[in-house]
Amino acid sequence: MIEFKNIRKAFGPKLVLDGVDLTIHDGEVFFIIGASGAGKSVLIKHLIGLIKPDDGEIILDGDDVAKLTETQLYRVRKLCAMVFQHATLFDSMTCAENVALPLRKHRGLSPKDALDEARRRLEQVHMHAYSERYPAELGDGMRKRVAIARALTVDPRYVLFDEPTTSLDPVNARRVDKLIRELSDKLGVTSIVVSHDLASIFAIADRVAFLYKGKLRKVGTPQEFLEQTQDPIVRQFIRGEADGPMEV
Ligand SMILES: Nc1ncnc2c1ncn2[C@@H]1O[C@H](COP(=O)(O)OP(=O)(O)OP(=O)(O)O)[C@@H](O)[C@H]1O
Ligand SMILES: [Mg+2]
Repeated sequence: MIEFKNIRKAFGPKLVLDGVDLTIHDGEVFFIIGASGAGKSVLIKHLIGLIKPDDGEIILDGDDVAKLTETQLYRVRKLCAMVFQHATLFDSMTCAENVALPLRKHRGLSPKDALDEARRRLEQVHMHAYSERYPAELGDGMRKRVAIARALTVDPRYVLFDEPTTSLDPVNARRVDKLIRELSDKLGVTSIVVSHDLASIFAIADRVAFLYKGKLRKVGTPQEFLEQTQDPIVRQFIRGEADGPMEV
């Protein structure tokens, strides 16, 4: 379980997070939405200690991440894999070699064992047939799935995805969605997804949090966002209503 307790974070004079409270349950596919610059990436970076809060606690498996030393953070980062928006693979290596690299480095597998394990991992993301291909030969959606396989080599309990479907065409975006859902359903992984992609939210999210002006404006299921909100700011964001307030 992950708990953000009253997180405040400012950069200079700019207050980005102004008392964020949030609990994310194990096995959930949890989305964080909000306008550009709302602080979504800043919020999830707190979870792996890349950013420290000015105030508040981030409780991950009983530990306050904000108080851990760099050495202790190493353990947290093995629990939490992060798939950055522009996850880059090494172009000079095949897909299998890309996934094998962290298996050799962090798990100490021999080159042959690491490659065998990498191919098995590529099967999980439905990319086995492309194991011996080079990233440059693949489209964005396929590269994204290889990057996800690589992030999963640490067997994380939590995976943080920063805009995983941005810049993908709809077909590939839905494939990545399906994969994120499968991680939760088959492996019991908790996924935290920062996204602007409403189609993804309605396809796979268990719950959604809407970040607005430093606070969580609403937390609920996708259905609740659609049906149970009179809040014009939330409605405009979810429905893209042109006649709502223009601040969002
Ligand atoms: N390391 C930093 N130093 C100073 N300001 C920062 C830093 N990181 C983020 N910010 C600022 O914090 C605010 C929130 O940034 P953040 O990247 O979290 O936005 P976001 O919601 O992820 O937006 P987007 O949808 O565009 O990715 C922005 O105003 C940004 O400029
Ligand atoms: Mg961001």
